[in-house]
Amino acid sequence: MSPPASSPHVPVLLAEVLAALDPRPGDLVVDATFGAGGYTRAFLDAGATVHAFDRDPDAIAAGRAWPETRETPPRLVLHPRRFSEMVAALAEAGVSRVDGVAMDVGVSSMQLDQAERGFAFSADGPLDMTMSREGPTAADFVNGAPESAIADVLFNYGEERQSRRVARAIVAARPLTTTGELAQVVRKALGYRPGAPKDPATRSFQAIRIHVNGELDELERALNGAEQVLRSGGRLAVVSFHSLEDRIVKQFLRDAAGATARASRHLPEMTTGPAPTFEKPGKAIRPSDAEILRNPRARSATLRAAVRTAAPPRNLEEQAA
Ligand SMILES: C[S@@+](CC[C@H](N)C(=O)[O-])C[C@H]1O[C@@H](n2cnc3c(N)ncnc32)[C@H](O)[C@@H]1O
Repeated sequence: MSPPASSPHVPVLLAEVLAALDPRPGDLVVDATFGAGGYTRAFLDAGATVHAFDRDPDAIAAGRAWPETRETPPRLVLHPRRFSEMVAALAEAGVSRVDGVAMDVGVSSMQLDQAERGFAFSADGPLDMTMSREGPTAADFVNGAPESAIADVLFNYGEERQSRRVARAIVAARPLTTTGELAQVVRKALGYRPGAPKDPATRSFQAIRIHVNGELDELERALNGAEQVLRSGGRLAVVSFHSLEDRIVKQFLRDAAGATARASRHLPEMTTGPAPTFEKPGKAIRPSDAEILRNPRARSATLRAAVRTAAPPRNLEEQAA
């Protein structure tokens, strides 16, 4: 069975990310999530040099054909690595400071649309879900993990309220080898009726994907990495697609900007601890109705952006690996 053709990935909140990063000719910008290169294209067109990361070998292979990779010196440098390794990878390339870091976390349309990658519950494919096409797969997890661990993943990363029921059904149906089988087991456990507005398998698939790829840990480490490599005045822009990720970004920026919880909303915010590494971020930016109409996949996106201060980075040891 040949996989269905993948629809091109339409970059989300592109104009807003460009406005937040404001890349100038000669700037050095990190695109932590190359994907189909929508952001990278815009940064290159603005005259910047881009160091782009993606853990998906298919994404990197497509990027290798871009003419900017063959300029002398190259204006596009591709890193087939996890973005949590940003600091080390840039250091290996002789880069210690950058002007901007963009992140657009989650999966690309190409990954979602190709049944063989095993991310989609709407098309039948092998139960894989690895972005990097290596390491333990979703099948390894659902077939090998204890029921309680599966329930925890579904609850913590999918916010699935019936996580125990679904985990029990998964264990009873083992071994599961395809996305279709897993989707059916989840739907049956939750009493899904075709035609219901949202497929209940959505939450379980999201949870297992986040677990298999260690996505939340990756995000936290990459935010610390960005703090370490951004110059004073450099800009960070992060687009995320669900509340767990957005919470991490929001909390990171809040901590980095030096805000601690207020005893009362009538009292000023206290700043204690290390000097703020980012200026107080502006409000979260959401796609316009027009963008959501053009690109329904934008509907759950949130952009948060902030400007780096001159303070030394916190958490240096977490980036040492
Ligand atoms: C939403 S897409 C990015 C789309 C891109 N902004 C564009 O306009 O084409 C996310 C990409 O990030 C990659 N990715 C996700 N997590 C990653 C990580 N921890 N390290 C490296 N790449 C990652 C995925 O493989 C995917 O290709």
